[in-house]
Parts: sequence; C-alpha cells; structure tokens
Amino acid sequence: MIKDSVAEAINEQINAEMYSAYLYLSMSVDFSNKNLDGFEHWMRLQAQEEMDHAIQFLDYLQERGARVKLESIEKPKSEWSSVLEAFEEAYQHECKVTGMINDIMNIAEKENDRATMNMLQWFIDEQVEEESSADDIVQKLKMIGDSPSGLLMMNDRMAQRTVSAEQE
Ligand code: FEO
Repeated sequence: MIKDSVAEAINEQINAEMYSAYLYLSMSVDFSNKNLDGFEHWMRLQAQEEMDHAIQFLDYLQERGARVKLESIEKPKSEWSSVLEAFEEAYQHECKVTGMINDIMNIAEKENDRATMNMLQWFIDEQVEEESSADDIVQKLKMIGDSPSGLLMMNDRMAQRTVSAEQE
C-alpha cells in the first residue's frame, strides 16, 4: 500500500502538470493571436504532453490503490510581451517542475517506496529534456534579437515539431 505522504505529493503533481498544460495552452493562444502559427503549434503539442504527464501520475496512483482528488487549476497568464518572454517563463517553469519531482523522489526515498522511485526516474530523465529544449529555444530567440525575418524563420521551424520536444 502506498504511503499517504507519497500519494499526496503525487496527487499535487497531477495538478502541477495540468497547470503546465494550461500555461502552455495559454501561450499557444497568445502566439495564435500574434499570427505565429509555428510557435502556436509547438506549444499546443507541449500542452498535450503535459496532460499526458498528469494522466501518467493519475494512473500510477490508481494502480497503487490510492484515491485521486482533483483540485482546481490556477488561472494562467494570457499575454506575453514577446516570444522570448514566454519561452523564458516556460524554461523557469520547467525548472520549478524539476524541483517538485525531486521533492517527491525525496519523500519516496524516505518511505523506502522503490516502486514510486522507479516510476519517478522516467520523469527525472524527461525533465532534463524539457529544460534543455526550452533553454535551447530561449538561446536561439536571444540570437534572433529584434529581427522579424529571423523570428519568422524560427516560426516555420517550430511548425515542424511532431511529438517530442527533443526533435526540435
Ligand atoms: Fe510535465 Fe514539462 O513537465
């Protein structure tokens, strides 16, 4: 039987992943309003990926016999001053999520919950990729600076994303 402390932390993580999805969906809407369809597409897929993460945590809790309690999702921001600002926030957000997952790992370790530690390892590896892909985009956007043609070229590139961010 999963310990309450571990189950509660995972239950909170479901909410954090849903908030991530909401945040990225909001960024995709903002990009759409600015006619940046490639960035919109990239963020829409990112939001989908975050929903998948939430479901993975939910499924795991159910598999371990814990009760899932869905909480309300915080309202995200709806507008960003630039694409760079949005991706800088996405990067910071991913760093925060990494910290949350590390915290759950610490709780699981304290409870000697090997199954949870094993499940979390996938997310720890995933966070390395997520931070890296967001940071990569931030660095490219910084290189582009104020160049509209550079931004449009990058917009076209972002449109090519299929499923995972690492294919960027
Ligand atoms: Fe589900 Fe971007 O972390």
